[in-house]
Amino acid sequence: MDRQPHIAVVGSANIDLITYTDSFPRAGETIFGREFSLGFGGKGANQAVAARLCGARVSMVARVGDDLFGPATIENFVFRGIDASRVLVTPGVSSGVAPIFVESSGQNRIWVVKGANDRLLPEDVDAAADLLWRADMIVLQLEIPLETVYYTLRFARAQGIRTILNPAPGQPLDLRQAGVADYVIPNETEAEALGGVPVHSLEDARVCALRLLEGGLRRVIVTLGANGALCAGADGIRHIAAFPVAPVDTTGAGDAFIGSLACFLAAGCEEAEAISRANLYAALSTMAAGTQKSFVTRERFEKEWDARQAAVR
Ligand code: RIB
Repeated sequence: MDRQPHIAVVGSANIDLITYTDSFPRAGETIFGREFSLGFGGKGANQAVAARLCGARVSMVARVGDDLFGPATIENFVFRGIDASRVLVTPGVSSGVAPIFVESSGQNRIWVVKGANDRLLPEDVDAAADLLWRADMIVLQLEIPLETVYYTLRFARAQGIRTILNPAPGQPLDLRQAGVADYVIPNETEAEALGGVPVHSLEDARVCALRLLEGGLRRVIVTLGANGALCAGADGIRHIAAFPVAPVDTTGAGDAFIGSLACFLAAGCEEAEAISRANLYAALSTMAAGTQKSFVTRERFEKEWDARQAAVR
């Protein structure tokens, strides 16, 4: 990396309550789960941690509750070397939490209770302007109010700061307002929520991406899990292949992709290589259990990247 980029994340922080199980109870039924893990999560926080582990300087703009989880979340940011000076505690509100269920295939189901994340308002973005102005890239998701997302995108464009919008959890958006972002990066289900086109294959992703560009998005990257990623813009569409791995837990893989991609792009990496690197960073995160706990260091990543490059030569 030629220079250390500065990434700012305006987004969510949750506590993840992960249960590993192979079956789900019917109404009124109690069953046993296999294992349980408590960890730091939230799409915004995860993306911040991934960018930091990849070597970026990272600042977080977020809100937590005044419960047990709030101070612990702030401590986790500080421990990881992330600037948490703009992570505010909201009195009388719970922190964001996410009950998550992971099957033995590694597939997950996630509920998010937004709590204090829903109190992150445009005023908070203004209050953090002195810090945001200095960022090379601002990264956003949809676990905070939409008005804050759109406001931050306009703020960043007016200041000439590049942005990534990860439209997760999936929901329909005003594409003109979302199109202020330099990159919009959905997975298959989020792309479907945005474009109204089912995405089950590479061809579906192509059709959906074209529709999203027509609707007003500038540049779209649809992440396709084991099928890699599809990048579409005015200059055409290209597919970037995934790296094969044996997944044990896919929770947070999308966040690993976004956070690492932000770091690689902002560090000046050419786009196709940055996407390929982010594909590998995300794939590696699926090989261990947990969300942030499964993200690898830059050192470990580079070793794996070199090995995979050597294998294709
Ligand atoms: O993308 C995974 C994340 O989604 C979890 O950490 C959970 O908190 C939810 O935000």
